[in-house]
Formats: sequence, C-alpha cells, structure tokens
Amino acid sequence: MGLALIVHGGAGMIPPERYDAARAGCRAAAEAGWRALLAGGSALDATQAAIMALEDNPSFNAGTGAVLTSNGHAELDAGLMDGESLHVGAVAGVQRIKNPVALARAVLASPHVLLVGPGAELFATESGIALCDPETLVTPEQRARWQRGYRDGDDVNAGPAMGGLDVGGVGQAASVHSDGHKHGTVGAVAIDAQGRIAAGASTGGIAAKHPGRVGDTPLPGCGFIAENGLGGVSSTGHGEDFIRLTLARRALDYMAGGMSAQAAAEAAIRLLGERVGGHGGLITLDAQGRPGFARNTPAMAYAYMLEGAAEIVAGV
Ligand code: GLY
Repeated sequence: MGLALIVHGGAGMIPPERYDAARAGCRAAAEAGWRALLAGGSALDATQAAIMALEDNPSFNAGTGAVLTSNGHAELDAGLMDGESLHVGAVAGVQRIKNPVALARAVLASPHVLLVGPGAELFATESGIALCDPETLVTPEQRARWQRGYRDGDDVNAGPAMGGLDVGGVGQAASVHSDGHKHGTVGAVAIDAQGRIAAGASTGGIAAKHPGRVGDTPLPGCGFIAENGLGGVSSTGHGEDFIRLTLARRALDYMAGGMSAQAAAEAAIRLLGERVGGHGGLITLDAQGRPGFARNTPAMAYAYMLEGAAEIVAGV
C-alpha cells in the first residue's frame, strides 16, 4: 500500500461561480498534506496540514471565514484521530483559535479526548498555542451575511439540500428543495508510508446556529474516524443526522466488512438519506489506499492524491 490523501471542502450548494475557488482550495490543501507525506510526515501530520490549509482559506466554512452563530460569533469545532493508537483529539465551541485542528492535535497528545469552549482555550495557552482576536476569524463577507440574515446558497459549504442520491462526483440529483439548513465542514484522510491512517475534520458548523450548538465534526465516529487496517472517514453535512447514525463509524464498518472505499461512502450516504432524511457527504480511504467520496447534496468539493498518480484529482 502506498501514500494516499483525500480532502473535502464541504457538501451543500456551491454556486457555479465558486466552483473554481472550491476546487483550487481543495487542491491546495491536498498539496499541503501531500508535501507532509513526502517529507516523511505521519498520516496525522498530513491530515492536520491539509485541514489547516482549508481553515486558513476564507472560502471554506472552517477557521477563518467560518459562518456565524445567531448572535454573531464564530464558534469552531475540530477533531482528529490517529488510526494506529486510536488516540483522538477534539475541540468544540472555540472562538479564539485560528487553527482549531492544531488545538485538536494538542488534545490528541494529552490524556483528554474532547475539550470545549473556554476550557479548550485555556488548554491552548497551556500548550503554547496562541489565542487570536475572535474578530480576525470573521471575514467581512460573513459579517455582512449575518447582518442581512443567512440565506440558502450563501456559503461554499451550505445551501439547499437535494432529495435524490448523488454519488461519485457528477451532479445528477433530482427534486431540489430548500430545507433552510446551512451546513458544512472541511476534512481529510491520509495514509502514510508506514500504512498508518488518520482522519479529521474542522467546521464553523451551521450558519446562525444556536450558541453552544455542536455538530458531528468534533465527535469521533460521527464527523471522522480512522483505524489502521480498516480505513478512514471524514464527514460533511447536517451534523445532527450524522450524530444520530454515527455515520463515519458506519462507513468504516462497511469497509471492515469488505466494501471498497467508494462503495462504503455510497452506502453510508444512502443510509443517511433513507434512514433519517439527512443531507451531506463523506470521503473515505480504505485499507488498500483507495479513495471514495459520495454526497446527496448538489455539490461537494474534494481533491485526492495517490502514490504513483501523475497529479492531484480535484472536483466539485
Ligand atoms: N457538519 C458540520 C456541522 O453540522 O456542524
């Protein structure tokens, strides 16, 4: 098995005029993660590097440029899992952290699994991670959207959900309806030279969410999961439904049962729609290093790179 890396920039309604930015952002994130792998970094290093690139890109709903809560703050969630040790690190509801996934990595290296709010930010200072001014995370675009009231289609990672199943990349879903949900996240899964698998995710959550609301992204088995020998998964979508189904865990179990990464991603998204009427997408790598991705939303930005491939594949 060789090196492999896949990233996503959120599932939802991406306006066609933003396809190029979404693809380019995912490609840049895949490049960052791939550089880490080529430099001998671990799967965890590559996953973190890819997610940090997406957090720093204001086109995505994570880190800088994340959507705002109903009372106008960016409350950020992130999580990471090391498929070798099964160590997990996650943070939720942080407002003063530029790269929540870096703080999640610090939590992963501690006895804790999940830290929230001011306690997580205290842990950041104890770990040597600088706190930022919360307003530096809020882009003028997001502030303007919050002030006028969020609408469907406002975000690269958000918008009206689709009624039909749409898997494997090319848009083909039918029966568009607006459900008013705003969702999105970014994430990555990587396999390193030692065959170690890691997965993670980061998000601002749902636009205009209730203060304190936490979705699937920082919850292992819901927003992300990795286990050596089985595979890795990162999710994006309306988090409550991913939590109800522990959907990342289900996708991993499908791969453990012999499904390919692609078949597992499609089966999990089919279950999401059929069992709870949920909307979103996920990316997978199986133990053979094969990538998979599926969604039942109009679009999901993604990129992947595999050892021996000529170049990164990116799409929406
Ligand atoms: N999937 C991101 C969220 O629901 O918060």
